[in-house]
Amino acid sequence: MSDPASQPRTDPVLPTDPFVSSAAPGPASGSASDAPVIIECQDVHKWYGDHHVLRGIDMTVRQGEVLVIFGPSGSGKSTFIRTLNRLEEHQRGRIVVDGIELTTDVRNIAAIRREVGMVFQQFNLFPHLTVLQNITLGPIRVRGWTREKAEEEAHRLLTRVGIPEQALKYPLQLSGGQQQRVAIARALAMQPRVMLFDEPTSALDPEMISEVLDVMQGLARSGMTMLCVTHEMGFARHVADRMVFMDDGVIVEQGPPTQIFEAPEQERTKRFLAQILH
Ligand SMILES: Nc1ncnc2c1ncn2[C@@H]1O[C@H](COP(=O)(O)OP(=O)(O)OP(=O)(O)O)[C@@H](O)[C@H]1O
Ligand SMILES: [Mg+2]
Repeated sequence: MSDPASQPRTDPVLPTDPFVSSAAPGPASGSASDAPVIIECQDVHKWYGDHHVLRGIDMTVRQGEVLVIFGPSGSGKSTFIRTLNRLEEHQRGRIVVDGIELTTDVRNIAAIRREVGMVFQQFNLFPHLTVLQNITLGPIRVRGWTREKAEEEAHRLLTRVGIPEQALKYPLQLSGGQQQRVAIARALAMQPRVMLFDEPTSALDPEMISEVLDVMQGLARSGMTMLCVTHEMGFARHVADRMVFMDDGVIVEQGPPTQIFEAPEQERTKRFLAQILH
């Protein structure tokens, strides 16, 4: 398995982009348009009973791309990203992640869970385990690492997310921002190729939001492929390669942040942005 950070990366904002001058700084991360495809969704549908929640999602994500997915409550954002690691099952269409098609085959599901890390709004740490135990559990059980190797990696990750001194604490002894950074470290410990974030800052007090976004920005710069459901529009503007606006179970519009912020094409996108930016 190749290290995503070693992939060639170029600035996707070309001088010919009509919305950006060639002197404008590009997003924090970027992926060459010829980078390998890592997620392919074709006509993905999902129903909860009679409720048609995903109504034909087509999406291609290339290695190293950072996507921000946004849209009204109930539009299917969480459901969509949860289908990508099979926390939710889609009923029609095709999802292929890193060459593995998501089917009912449990071997594929186990393989996908190793490839795709997820960070939730509510952290979802095990309260009865220390930070170190939370982070090492997966690598020891699923990857078969020795405790020693898993702990060494956990300490490295805790340094990376800025809390090296918290290893022996329990989650409830930490602030929300620190807990979320542990959750990011825990997901990274599995060495995923893709990271999914579902509103990772929306349960945090305002002063803790930036510490989590900073970690996410660092991860984006390192070349991680990331799909982030978030309404943090500063993060989207500076870090996303592509913004995806969902409403009512479909992708209404997508494009680079400059296009979405400065020249959205769809009325629904304009209305939603007007609501959240003012
Ligand atoms: N487990 C479930 N059972 C039944 N309906 C569900 C379930 N989960 C979500 N839904 C419904 O599916 C639709 C999409 O929900 P989803 O959580 O994906 O939206 P969202 O865009 O993430 O919204 P929010 O911004 O509020 O998180 C909503 O109408 C929701 O009520
Ligand atoms: Mg949601």
